Amino acid sequence: MKEKLNSLMHEVQNEIEETISLEILENLRIKYLGRKEGIFTQLLKQMGNLPPQERPETGKLINEIKDKVTQLLEEKGTILKSRDVIQEKIDITLPGILPELGNLHPLTKTLKEIVDIFVRLGFQVAEGPEIELSYYNFDALNIPSHHPARDMHDTFYVSKDVILRTHTSPVQIRVMERQKPPLRIIVPGRVYRRDADISHSPMFHQVEGLLVDEQTTFSDLKGVLSTFIHLIFGSETNVRFRPSFFPFTEPSAEVDIACVLCAGKGCGVCKYSGWLEILGAGMVDPEVFKMVNYDSTKYTGFAFGLGVERIAMLKYGINNIRLFFENDMRFLEQF
Ligand code: FA5
Repeated sequence: MKEKLNSLMHEVQNEIEETISLEILENLRIKYLGRKEGIFTQLLKQMGNLPPQERPETGKLINEIKDKVTQLLEEKGTILKSRDVIQEKIDITLPGILPELGNLHPLTKTLKEIVDIFVRLGFQVAEGPEIELSYYNFDALNIPSHHPARDMHDTFYVSKDVILRTHTSPVQIRVMERQKPPLRIIVPGRVYRRDADISHSPMFHQVEGLLVDEQTTFSDLKGVLSTFIHLIFGSETNVRFRPSFFPFTEPSAEVDIACVLCAGKGCGVCKYSGWLEILGAGMVDPEVFKMVNYDSTKYTGFAFGLGVERIAMLKYGINNIRLFFENDMRFLEQF
């Protein structure tokens, strides 16, 4: 019996050593240690056939071998598991997991594109406060106290003389107060109005432009803005300058582009006019130059202000301004 057990031990050892998978190892465990049919269980059951004096020693030996086999199976199991993990780590045939990359917000992208174009045209970037004195937002821009834009219904008042700026134009005044001409600036920034529908938001972005020099003309204004529009919407885009009014420019114009959706044929978006307004502009009013002590007999200039959301909506064909601010990933991931 002893000999039989020793040769069985060898046999088990060899089999475990040669095992190459966890599945085969499990089959071996059942074969030797299985509770009903396992070889060791059978051997223990056969103990009753032995002469009584041999039983204790044989029983002890069987249990020792059984423990040894259990230990060998566990050790081999650990080795095979770690091999599986290593194999998993270096399996170069598996497709890679792409890291999720972030992306710029469509408004940030559009703003960056606008600023880049004007910087290439020689403009410098300036900034100003979003919480502004009504003097800079209105009075210095020739917007008198009775003007409807100053009404509570249009403007967020912090106190009687302090507001959330309604446009980026006050930065024109702040820059002219501290800098003499010639100057050529653009002012990107957030502005606030009591305004809310599918194309108007209470917070939105503008880019202001101001160029002051000797002999600046309306043709310069047309040249700069037409170049900008062709760079941002494509060189085929038709541009129209339409007479308008702003208290701080004279003459003033609103600039339209041929509707990007119907190519100027007329549709619901352009209200069947074929044109879409994208910005306001004009020659700086001499009254404004007076406020900053610029000599209006020597200097002339032009200014413009455009809505970044409006440009982004036209560029990407978006029909509701609220989509920009809802942070819905299904929308944002498209850019
Ligand atoms: C102005 O704000 C002038 N300061 C622009 C200007 C500057 C004219 C310099 C002359 C010289 P206006 O109110 O039209 O103008 O606004 C300019 C642009 O801002 C609009 O064409 C529109 O695109 C955008 N805009 C206006 N209100 C909203 C709003 N509530 N939500 C989103 N965009 C708006």
